[in-house]
Amino acid sequence: MRQSVPRLALLTALALAPALALGTVACSGARSAPPGPVPGHIARAHRVALGAAVRWDRVGDLPGYASLFLAHYRWLTPENELKMESLEPANGVFDFARADALVDWAGSQGKAVHGHVLVWGNQLPRWLRALARTGPSRVVVVRSAMETYIRGVLAHFHGRIDEWDVVNEAFDAHGNWAHNLWWRHLGPGYVRTAFEIARTADPTLRLCYNDGGTEVPGRHASAVLGLVRRLRRAHLLDCLGSEMHVAGVGPAADLVLRQLRRFAATGAVLLVSELDVSLAGVRNGERRRRAIQAATYAKLAGACARVPACLRVTTWGFTDASSWLGSAAEALPFDARRRAKPAWFALTTALAR
Ligand code: XIL
Repeated sequence: MRQSVPRLALLTALALAPALALGTVACSGARSAPPGPVPGHIARAHRVALGAAVRWDRVGDLPGYASLFLAHYRWLTPENELKMESLEPANGVFDFARADALVDWAGSQGKAVHGHVLVWGNQLPRWLRALARTGPSRVVVVRSAMETYIRGVLAHFHGRIDEWDVVNEAFDAHGNWAHNLWWRHLGPGYVRTAFEIARTADPTLRLCYNDGGTEVPGRHASAVLGLVRRLRRAHLLDCLGSEMHVAGVGPAADLVLRQLRRFAATGAVLLVSELDVSLAGVRNGERRRRAIQAATYAKLAGACARVPACLRVTTWGFTDASSWLGSAAEALPFDARRRAKPAWFALTTALAR
């Protein structure tokens, strides 16, 4: 994903446009501008780009999976391949084989990759959990493990992945700090530490915070807003992902719009990062269920399209056969046989507006 200078300048300008429109980008000092370089795909077609989470095991194994993704999506988020349990299976020993295969495949197909995720309480390697249980000085050990990991991963993907979720899901649904391994040993300051390490490791990257359940106002969204403001003031955060794992009719449109605008006022670039709409609890006939789902996709993608700072909608998978919620939830825009559902037309129409 290396780019020539004029192209890069153009794309950076495009990426800045929403923030400039909001009047939030200070003119002095390069570090006060939120985004770094943006891969080219974002500039094509619609203002809001479409992405999907992809699983490397499916790319090789499921006929039609890869071609469906390639035909319709511009951004790829590796669903599990860039998580710590995948990349550092033993202390200090990295295994990049699967991640490299997926990232290089994406690059060779002209797709941009969103890095997910450096620091999270889930999908941690066993050795880290064991290490955190023993030893006299866990603060030093855990902090050093974090630093080694972030630096190792960012260096490895330098030039191939320009945008990373540095921290994921640091709060619970009530807006309290999630009691994960990092928080237990390092306190809430672990979030800022992670961003500082990432920023120092590679100042050209776009650094994001990602969380879910934050699409409507409430304690969770307020906690995230406070964190984003603090990280923005310290010039450590460029983008904010709102997951948007919802069900049925989903949240009210005006609430989603209000929350996205609050987030946009921080000057951060916004991403809808893990959208899916579960139909697991919806008990109508097939046509009605699909119509409900289509309306929810239209509502959430439409909210992003109406907020200039919101640049991308990524769905968490794309066919029901490969959804993390199981195929029975029918949560994605293509059915298990890869046929477009009403949700697909609703999603793409909302983004085209
Ligand atoms: C999920 C994956 O989709 C599953 O395959 C895996 O077993 C667990 O993690 N929020 C996130 C994602 O930020 O990383 C999670 O992905 C879904 C919830």
